[in-house]
Amino acid sequence: MQGRTKLNVGDILAKKGKEKISVLTAYEYSTARICDSAGIDILLVGDSAGMVVLGHANTVPVGMQEMMIFCGAVARGTKRAMIIGDMPFGSYQVGPSVAVENAVQLIKAGCDAVKLEGGSEIIDTIKAIVVAGIPVMGHIGLRPQTSSLWEGYKLQGRTKEGAIKLIEDASVLEKAGVFSIVLEMVASEAVDAITKSVSIPTIGIGSGPSCDGQVLVLHDMLGIYQDIRPKFVKRYAELSKEIFDAVSSYNHDIKTGMFPEEANTFHMDAKELDEWKNERRI
Ligand code: KIV
Repeated sequence: MQGRTKLNVGDILAKKGKEKISVLTAYEYSTARICDSAGIDILLVGDSAGMVVLGHANTVPVGMQEMMIFCGAVARGTKRAMIIGDMPFGSYQVGPSVAVENAVQLIKAGCDAVKLEGGSEIIDTIKAIVVAGIPVMGHIGLRPQTSSLWEGYKLQGRTKEGAIKLIEDASVLEKAGVFSIVLEMVASEAVDAITKSVSIPTIGIGSGPSCDGQVLVLHDMLGIYQDIRPKFVKRYAELSKEIFDAVSSYNHDIKTGMFPEEANTFHMDAKELDEWKNERRI
């Protein structure tokens, strides 16, 4: 890796079976910088931005315009991590040519690869993006973009039939050329079988320890929403409380005159001030 810091598809593929792959979502410059310098391998600019950043109830309303802004900001804050841009709902369902155009836009915004939700039903679209030279990450199991419209957010691969369908989807995705696959909310026994059945890395969220890597939504693991605690999330901080306490102290200090202090205050040049005082007879 001498002379090159940015991780690419080859680096990610080489980790399978050797080193677990760390993935976090990122949506903007400041936190992307922190995650990148902490050594996270992949920053996923997820359409979960629609929920955790924009306050929508699900990911469906997110569009390309918003994703382009998030992707650009993350790219500007990232030196080492691979950046994956999530293709939002509506940006690839129309068909392969529209999907390729939108994938190109995400790459131009600074992403190194794109991610699409779906299995065998979107295989022509995935192939078209790969043929265009753009690395693709697949996403099967729970698919938030459409799950909210059909059966809600439910554990996938709980039945033998469900597990076999996921293994088939993973195989079709691998043959279509994806370089890794997100498995969302899949029963861990099924995940184990899927991960062993493909030669590309699997990245799990809510899918147990067998995956080749793990992804979490940044806001979930940092505890930015105190009331949202999915079972599969491990909280590494309680930032909601920390931010609340800091903002409350700031509010208190302003109301009581404790901020700004002398240390936070700028002064005029002393000679200029004297002259000015004399002129004004202060
Ligand atoms: O949008 C997102 O954050 C995702 C991850 C949960 C995998 O797709």
